[in-house]
Amino acid sequence: MTQDELKALVGQAALHYVVPGEIVGVGTGSTVNKFIDALASMKDQIKGAVSSSEASTQRLKALGIAVFDCNAVGELSVYIDGADEIDGQGHMVKGGGAALTREKIVAAQSRQFVCIADESKLVKTLGAFPLPVEVIPMATARVMRQFVAMGAVAQIRQKDGQPLVTDNGQYIVDVSGLHITDPLAFETQVSQWPGVVTVGVFAHQKAHVCLLGTASGVKTLTF
Ligand code: 5RP
Repeated sequence: MTQDELKALVGQAALHYVVPGEIVGVGTGSTVNKFIDALASMKDQIKGAVSSSEASTQRLKALGIAVFDCNAVGELSVYIDGADEIDGQGHMVKGGGAALTREKIVAAQSRQFVCIADESKLVKTLGAFPLPVEVIPMATARVMRQFVAMGAVAQIRQKDGQPLVTDNGQYIVDVSGLHITDPLAFETQVSQWPGVVTVGVFAHQKAHVCLLGTASGVKTLTF
C-alpha cells in the first residue's frame, strides 16, 4: 500500500471514535484530510466540528460540516489528528503543517486524543523530524540561539521566500538535531521561554490511542 492509501485507511478507521450527536475535534494535515473526507459520510449524525486550522475549517465547510468556535462549546469527547512523529508512550511531535498552537488548544479541550498516522511516523525517540516551534516574530533570533546552545540547528520556516506566517500571525522555527529523551520535561522547559507560543512536542497533550496504518492493516496502540 502507498503512504496515501495508509492515510486513507486510518482516516476511515477514525470514524469509529466519533460520537454520534456530538461535536468532534478535528486536526490538520494530509492524514486528517482523509478523515474529514470520510467524516462527510457521517455529517448528518454529528452536530459538527471544532477545527484546528483555517485549512481544515475550509475543507469541513466545503463538505457541509458545521464548524464551531472553541469558546462556543464545552469539553469535546474526542480530538482526531495526525502527527509527524509518535513514540511508544503516545508522545508526539506535531506542527509540520504549522497548526500546532490551535491543535494543542483543541486537544486540551478534548477527553481523548486519537492520533492517526502511517507507520513511518512511529519512532523510538522524538527529534529526527525537525521540531516546529511557533514563536512571536520579535523573539525568533533569541529563541533560535537558545536552541543552538542546546546543540541544535534552528531556522525560520519560509514560504515563497518570506517567513511563513501562521493562522495566529506568528512565525515557525524548525529545530533539527534534537534527541528528546524526556518529552514532558522538554515541553515544560521550552514552553516557558519568553516569546514561545507553542512547542510542537505534545507530551502533556499526548495521544490516548494511535491508529497506525501498516501494510497488514490498522494497528491500534493505546497509551
Ligand atoms: C499539522 C500537524 C500534522 O498533524 C502533522 O504535520 C502530520 O501531517 P500529515 O498527516 O500531513 O503527515 O501537526 O500542524
